[in-house]
Amino acid sequence: MFEHIDAYPGDPILTLNENFARDPREHKVNLSIGIYYDDEGRLPVMGAVREAEAQLLAEPAAKPYLPMAGMADYRDAVQSLVFGDDSPARAERRIATVQTLGGSGALKVGADFIRRYFPDAQVWVSDPTWDNHRFIFERAGFTVGTYPYYDEATGGLKFEAMLSAIRDLPAKSVVLLHACCHNPTGVDLSDAQWVKLIGAIKQRELLPFIDMAYQGFGAGIDADAFAIREMVRQNVPAFVANSFSKNFSLYGERCGALSVICESPDSAARVLGQLTSAVRANYSNPPTHGAKIVARVLATPSLRQSWEDELASMCRRIARMRGEIHARLRGNVPEPMLARYLDQRGMFTYTGLSAGQVDVLRERHGVYLIRSGRMCVAALNDRNVGAAAAAIGEVLSNGDLIGAEPRSLAASFDVSSKPGRRVGS
Ligand code: LMR
Repeated sequence: MFEHIDAYPGDPILTLNENFARDPREHKVNLSIGIYYDDEGRLPVMGAVREAEAQLLAEPAAKPYLPMAGMADYRDAVQSLVFGDDSPARAERRIATVQTLGGSGALKVGADFIRRYFPDAQVWVSDPTWDNHRFIFERAGFTVGTYPYYDEATGGLKFEAMLSAIRDLPAKSVVLLHACCHNPTGVDLSDAQWVKLIGAIKQRELLPFIDMAYQGFGAGIDADAFAIREMVRQNVPAFVANSFSKNFSLYGERCGALSVICESPDSAARVLGQLTSAVRANYSNPPTHGAKIVARVLATPSLRQSWEDELASMCRRIARMRGEIHARLRGNVPEPMLARYLDQRGMFTYTGLSAGQVDVLRERHGVYLIRSGRMCVAALNDRNVGAAAAAIGEVLSNGDLIGAEPRSLAASFDVSSKPGRRVGS
């Protein structure tokens, strides 16, 4: 019956993280998955989350199914955080929001909806992007291509090439964009670039799908949502996936949402209905616990303040670790590959290390990065930063080792290697 089932080669991020857990070496360092760890290397339980959870546990409640679209308070809190309290689109009831299983659930529900109502659309993602973007949209039945984004030579953005490629796309193409803290490169658009890009999207009648998994880890909670609010300002219909995995440190609770900016309250009601039907067809209705925590924190001024303060301190710690690794790599890493440790934003630095170099780092030194060269700087701390920097320095200076190591722990999966269709150069 199952002879024809292929072996799963694994996921470039999650399987690697599972391999890390199995690695018996004590000195191993996990800079692979996008998770924030504190100075002690622990996954934090944020103060506001702990307090909200304690309050909820003191108020035992039955656990009925949530509505298919999710908890009303949570959906309202999402809209206010993502679009702003004073968003005109909110006031005009033009935003359809459903609670989803994390940001990935939002992408999948959105992909199913688009596949049903825009069956001829193609999806375009940045080159490179988070590996799961391609996977989710391909599995939903789309052809996925790339538009230019990251400039390997400078560690920055190829904005003009990106803009001109997007101007060439057929109407109703889906353009996947990262609101802030681009994953995997840490390279974002400036506000002025967003304004220009959104103008082009509007003119070409494209369908932007914005993924905001890192709100608060870039320039601040509101500043990170600039692109989304600019879409509202320019009256551009758009899909927005957001997640509380990182900014609430609630990874396993799978708290996310999908919002669609519509032209009228009437279309928002119909879109909400069909998003709800996509939820029902996928997993029926979302879970309760994490959503209650997020809604409680965001609606309680003292908890909200505590959450904002702690998130800001997490960002300061990441910035400090960027400085630490930069200082330790100076002299060992060529200058053009060094500035990006300071300049790139959010949880990641796109180091420029090759897959072969990453393999040697992992096999020989127990330092895990994603094979695209993405490093999670949010997992550095005072105890592991020296070892990570020394290992990178050694790998770079021993060119003859590169790619020559056995890859017993390296999965056979490869990342960012599927070129697919490309637009622009
Ligand atoms: C990451 O990019 O490492 C995280 O978003 C975790 C994941 O699901 O890939």
